[in-house]
Amino acid sequence: MSEASEAKLRLAAVNPTPASARDLLRIVIVGHVDHGKSTLVGRMFHDTGSLPDGKYESIKTMCERRGVPFEWAFLMDALQAERDQGITIDTSQIWFKTDYRDYTIIDAPGHKEFLKNMITGAAQSDAALLIIDAAEGVREQSRRHGYLLHLLGIRQVAVAVNKMDLIAYEKDQFDLIEQEYRDYLTSIGVTPTFVIPVSARQGDNIVEPSAQMPWYKGPTVVKALDSFMPTAAPVERPLRFPVQDVYKFDQRRIIAGRIEEGHLRVGDTLMFSPSNKSARVQSIEFWSTVPGKKAPTEASAGESVGITLDEQIFVERGELASHVEHSPIETDVFRARIFWLGHEPLLKGKSYRIKLGTLEAPVTVQSIESIIDTSDLSNTSSHQVERNQVAEVVLRARRMLALDEFSKAPKSGRFVLVDKYDIAGGGIISMDGYADQRDLITSRSTNITRVVHGIDTAARAFRNGHKGGVLWFTGLSGAGKSTLAVALEKKLFEKGYNVYVLDGDNVRHGLNANLSFSPEDRAENIRRVGEVAALFGRAGMIAITSFISPYRSDRDRAREAAENFHEIHVKADVATCEARDPKGLYKKARAGEIKDFTGISAPYEAPDSPELVVDTADTQIDECVERLVNYVETKFKV
Ligand code: ADX
Repeated sequence: MSEASEAKLRLAAVNPTPASARDLLRIVIVGHVDHGKSTLVGRMFHDTGSLPDGKYESIKTMCERRGVPFEWAFLMDALQAERDQGITIDTSQIWFKTDYRDYTIIDAPGHKEFLKNMITGAAQSDAALLIIDAAEGVREQSRRHGYLLHLLGIRQVAVAVNKMDLIAYEKDQFDLIEQEYRDYLTSIGVTPTFVIPVSARQGDNIVEPSAQMPWYKGPTVVKALDSFMPTAAPVERPLRFPVQDVYKFDQRRIIAGRIEEGHLRVGDTLMFSPSNKSARVQSIEFWSTVPGKKAPTEASAGESVGITLDEQIFVERGELASHVEHSPIETDVFRARIFWLGHEPLLKGKSYRIKLGTLEAPVTVQSIESIIDTSDLSNTSSHQVERNQVAEVVLRARRMLALDEFSKAPKSGRFVLVDKYDIAGGGIISMDGYADQRDLITSRSTNITRVVHGIDTAARAFRNGHKGGVLWFTGLSGAGKSTLAVALEKKLFEKGYNVYVLDGDNVRHGLNANLSFSPEDRAENIRRVGEVAALFGRAGMIAITSFISPYRSDRDRAREAAENFHEIHVKADVATCEARDPKGLYKKARAGEIKDFTGISAPYEAPDSPELVVDTADTQIDECVERLVNYVETKFKV
């Protein structure tokens, strides 16, 4: 097959499937196997008349012949077996119909499938039906299921309290379960619309209201589902178009993928992230056998398209296209709430592969902030996350990733983690305390050329008697950075060094007076100071910088900007700094008077491998200064 026709075929494969004429709702049914999930589904199929003709009778006859009682689960197994053999049309999802509309049930037999579906998009359900066993009440398992729905962001939820026949259809017991589960779901931000007492086996409150429970005035399961709304295609939201493939076709390069959110038009300028490059949409590709039918000029969420650009920029699978003014976040570090399923625990410092839209990249667990107990939402700390635990972690990538916060754009704000070849966990993204780094890596200067100096580094070092460079102090507020910096400056000056301190509090009075302590402004603070310090270094001087500089990525950028860079961790833990509290700021931060205070309500990422560590918690100032002077004498003397 020619390359061109192969590309055509592949594009056809990603083309949208026609929408059904009848309204369709996608529901995910979650529950423990023993709580009667198959029975409920079987009963729902039967009572709505959705089973293939004769299916119920044939399973019933088979049970009688074998002398076993009829189970709805047998029927569902038989349907499943047929689907596996590809006999019925739809091979991936089961569907049934009510008088009102059609349903597909997203089959999520276990957590793993659930998470896998969550990222492939198969679990993009409009609503969920949670099943609880009335005889057992709310168990850890049910809470975990509820938590998964919370992670998925499903807002329309009905709860079926099953096996009411086993508790004699008692209202009191049902009321207790309802209250307990409602309280739990509400605490995690999921509001159950209905809690319905049912007996799937007996058919109570599935399609027909139950005569056994006249005290229940709410809808049946099917009526409850019928009342849910299909989620509108997110056409009105900012464009998110993950690049699935790039095909060479004739002279053109066709960028193919599925538009997840928003819409695009021919002529729009698209931003590709994380490469941070932009170009205009030249065409939306289209193949038609209908003569005279024109290529579309726009496409929107839910459609799979191939586009061409007006400029040959390098774009590859994994990039996320958006409009320039509503671009995704670019970062190499983020916070995530994860659900761990790996056979081996998730470990701090270990690397995994992240699947984020169409992108796959390695990430390392920088920290495990807390383990969240899904039953009472309490937090504990740990160095590892065990199977089935939910945890808040910080993940770091080796290069920039394009992503969104889950609360703002669910589809590009969630991911799965792969350990070796297995999906081992899934999670949702929050940038709380972390900066969007896009601005820091964007250059808006054009038509500029470098001017070459007439004096080289060696000549300056020869004249000064020492090399120029940067001593980058990092540490918490109150760790002793400024004290050490000015003491070191004085000592070095006396020894004939050209040295100058750039101090956070000072620079924030002038050059950076327009910056706050938000993550973005801190990053910009460090970017500017990193560049200024690099200039000092090139001028032949020693710049001592004294900034909290809480983010690793910012310090790494400062390192890249300079030529002779030494990262020095001025180390003292939060408790020590808080006890010192030289400016009374910790007290204010604890009282809530200063927000985003490093170490209290904003992160501090200690350096991984600094050139030098001075521990001010257990070393006297004089001794620290002496160590620093010795360090400079060995590294900067010529
Ligand atoms: S950085 O995080 O952007 O590197 P920088 O070193 O410039 O911080 O400024 C830190 C100094 O600002 C602290 O020593 C303290 O005096 C003051 N400060 C005011 N608000 C805050 C805050 N929210 N967090 C940390 N320091 C603060």
